[in-house]
Amino acid sequence: MERGFTIWFTGLSCSGKTTVSQGVAEELRKRGLNVEVLDGDVVRTNLSKGLGFSKEDRDTNIKRIGFVCKLLSRNGVVAIGAAISPYRATRDYNRKEIGDFVEVYCKSPLDVCIKRDVKGLYKKALAGEITNYTGVSDPYEEPLNPEVVLETDKETEEESVRKVIRKLEELRYIQPAAAAQYSEEEEEKVKKRLTDLGYL
Ligand code: ADX
Repeated sequence: MERGFTIWFTGLSCSGKTTVSQGVAEELRKRGLNVEVLDGDVVRTNLSKGLGFSKEDRDTNIKRIGFVCKLLSRNGVVAIGAAISPYRATRDYNRKEIGDFVEVYCKSPLDVCIKRDVKGLYKKALAGEITNYTGVSDPYEEPLNPEVVLETDKETEEESVRKVIRKLEELRYIQPAAAAQYSEEEEEKVKKRLTDLGYL
């Protein structure tokens, strides 16, 4: 059975977690892996339905997602968690529970996230109509040692996806994509060069 593991996306609302996690999932599926994405917005409509945004409720949400990721990972699935997960200790708890855990920090300055404001919630938070909004009136604790940092305000979606995939290859969680194919002519050149250098 393939080795499962968890990719954990963290970052502010509108920092690109959903977009990049979907892109990574697509690439991994192309490579024949079984992938499941647990996105905060979706999970909150089922598994975590009824939970709010107090520290306690957020921690419950994150631990639930982590628990499912752990079950999936140990059954050979690539589990992808994508939730704000603002508290470092709770992310670290999941890391410890799961073991094979790759933390991806979607780093995007708050003002860029506010400009994106996909759902118009930042606007409401800034107007005080929503309280405890992450980044505005609630904390976000940056990861200290994430495996990957994505600067989603500077990189394209493709670049961010590639960065995550490259790290997974580097950590040997996935096989590197097929090595570049050389033409016969190129192969001969390489052989000759290696012979000249005394390696062959
Ligand atoms: S987490 O803190 O528990 O990790 P999660 O990622 O599941 O959060 O949900 C965040 C989403 O809930 C945001 O994308 C946003 O659409 C919505 N939301 C509603 N209220 C808040 C709030 N007070 N803070 C952050 N996000 C909120």
